Amino acid sequence: MKINHVVVIGSGTMGIGIAAQLCNANIPVTLLDLKTEICKKAKKRIYESKPPLLIDKSKIDEIKIGTIDQNLDAVRKADWIVEAVVERIDIKLNLYEKILKERKKGSIISSNTSTIPLKVLSSKMSDEDKKDFCITHFFNPVRYMGLLEIVKESFNDLDKINFLKNFCEENLGKQVIICKDTPGFLGNRVGVYAIQVAMTEAIKMELSVDESDALYGRPMGLPKIGAFGLYDLIGIDLMADVLKSFLKELPTSDVFHEVAKEIPLITHLIKNGYTGRKSKGGFRRINNKEGKKVLEVIDLKTREYAPSKKIKFNIKENVSLKDLVSRNDKYGKYTWSVVSKIILYASSLIPSVTKDYNNIDEAMRLGFSWSRGPFEMLEELGVKFFVEKDKNLKMNEFIKRLYENKSDTFYGKRQIYTDLETLGKVKQIANITSNKSAFIYDYSIYKIVEFNTKANTLDYDSMDALKKATDKNLIIINEGMQFSAGVNLNYVMEFVKEKNWKAIEKFIHHFQMTCKQLKYSENPVISAPSGLALGGGFEILVQSDYVIAHTNIVTGLVETLVGLIPAGGGCKEMLWRWMQTEEAKKDPDFAPQKVFDIIGYAKTATSPVEAMPLKFLLAKDKSIMNRNKLLSVSQDLIAKIKGDYKPPETPIFKLSGNQVREKMFQTLENLFKEKKILEHGMEVGKKLAFVLSGGNTTIEKELSEDDLYALELEAFIQLIQMKKTQARIKHTLTTGKPLVN
Ligand code: NAI
Repeated sequence: MKINHVVVIGSGTMGIGIAAQLCNANIPVTLLDLKTEICKKAKKRIYESKPPLLIDKSKIDEIKIGTIDQNLDAVRKADWIVEAVVERIDIKLNLYEKILKERKKGSIISSNTSTIPLKVLSSKMSDEDKKDFCITHFFNPVRYMGLLEIVKESFNDLDKINFLKNFCEENLGKQVIICKDTPGFLGNRVGVYAIQVAMTEAIKMELSVDESDALYGRPMGLPKIGAFGLYDLIGIDLMADVLKSFLKELPTSDVFHEVAKEIPLITHLIKNGYTGRKSKGGFRRINNKEGKKVLEVIDLKTREYAPSKKIKFNIKENVSLKDLVSRNDKYGKYTWSVVSKIILYASSLIPSVTKDYNNIDEAMRLGFSWSRGPFEMLEELGVKFFVEKDKNLKMNEFIKRLYENKSDTFYGKRQIYTDLETLGKVKQIANITSNKSAFIYDYSIYKIVEFNTKANTLDYDSMDALKKATDKNLIIINEGMQFSAGVNLNYVMEFVKEKNWKAIEKFIHHFQMTCKQLKYSENPVISAPSGLALGGGFEILVQSDYVIAHTNIVTGLVETLVGLIPAGGGCKEMLWRWMQTEEAKKDPDFAPQKVFDIIGYAKTATSPVEAMPLKFLLAKDKSIMNRNKLLSVSQDLIAKIKGDYKPPETPIFKLSGNQVREKMFQTLENLFKEKKILEHGMEVGKKLAFVLSGGNTTIEKELSEDDLYALELEAFIQLIQMKKTQARIKHTLTTGKPLVN
């Protein structure tokens, strides 16, 4: 069997995501809806989506469109038909009737439903049709969420299900978990329960929305949005519908019922049009007060809105779950209550919903971006601690067995849904050393460095780990979301507070020398990034020998946004890359000007396709759809290079100094006149120009890589001493966003 053409029916949020991902995988796809007009609008939505659903926007017209009534020819030739229309049984059943009459024999049909059982959807189908029908439950946004749940029933053709699983892994880059036909499958069953627990416990224990969201977030290893935040994002009305469908499907003995009862405040919000971010607000709203936008939050008791407050818990950044739930205050009590209920619920689903507890953890990580699933939480707390902490805890069979067998640690293999050798699996068997910012795994013929700070930001220790690991073939890779969001600015700002410029100089120099070592070590270095690879993170990958990049990377040099310039070799390396072009051979000022533009505007690429023309990636680098494959592809490359590896030759730079600098200054003047940059922007631009022009040099003079590193360092130190730069950094650190202008 082969999938040469796919039809997606329903061009809403999910349909466009699925169609775009098929287009990303170069699979011909036709998107159908009730009217062509709807599809045209849907294509516009794809094109304008942020973050972008397409890896390469220029391919938008490869997505064909039409209507279900007029374009049945597409259905006839399709090997896979994905239904993603509104969540209404009558509409879906009606549609299947039409499709089944027309479809090619043996083609796969799947529904993206999140709540309707496969048994119900297939109830009117013949046995022959049922074999080819399943649920493919994608998560939103499709390009970025790793999880795909494929739901099967006993009537399915298993070969076909496995074929579809392989296809979706290989081509669409999804991490596929096969599920039974039970309500909410794996992800939503636990994920929605968890949100409800967080919310109902907050109401019961009288925590505010801000307090609950601040706890049911990073401290618990969950996305920082929080349960109330998620409600506002998803839509309070939609969540109410989801709950209704759960209650309809689940037996009353299921404790889901306890947390899904109607909450009067929610009914009140929906009735008054407060359905979340898509409307005038929900648990939070933006209020215009005297011309200023104020973020307000609802009081769960009085239903009045008041300005949202940042909650100070006195919680360390890397607090352990055990410490958090052991706190003897209302915050500790709340997290214990929420965490223990989630663990109990998830473990009560074994084996009826799945026999593999491991898959529930994977679903939570891939579909809900949790850093660990409920069973990993249990393992971390320890079974004994978990059972004995609360005398009233009602053990279920799963927990009881672990407790009675004294299985304090019970976790077996991870990621059993895939045969690939992933970082998650290698971690379990490699020799591990670590410092406070990174792990080094020694395994087979290579070492792996994985950073482990918040967003994998870099400091002195991150560099030390890299340096130590270059004695073997090295792969730099991340299991967390981000490869690295850049240098840890909090770390740098600590030195700024003390005006300890020497310490900053020492750190940046260490950074530079580490990158130099990556480039010239005896052994090849491969960076295998996924997520953000920005600033310092980008400088690491650009000075590695090869990059094996996930298709969803966001990469580039963004230092100017905080009033700095790249100083870990980013300016130097980009300059060298652009100096190898034909244009640069004719015009020595071409490369510096080009790089001035790229770094000055802090250009970023949101995929390898966008990264190539900017020379963030080169032809020797690779782009991979399936994140789980990054390690094995890197391993294969190391095996292929074997003894043939030679470090690159050292570059010599010839730059025209003042000559090209004048041109850059002119550009800055124009931007200033047009009010596109302010005085501080001019200053930053001038420092960048000084570095990229080679400083006080002439075109005849030869500059070494070290000369360029020295220029970068000098400019960085000058800029970090500026009050305006420090203010920009502080703003970014507190708001998570750079200052505009
Ligand atoms: P949506 O409301 O954004 O889009 C539904 C689309 O179906 C609309 O464009 C509508 O015009 C079209 N449609 C309605 N009847 C049709 C018909 N007879 N023939 C062709 N097109 C028709 O819905 P959304 O959010 O994309 O959901 C689609 C499916 O995916 C639902 O089953 C939903 O439960 C499921 N789902 C939704 C998720 C989400 O986050 N939105 C996540 C996972 C699953």
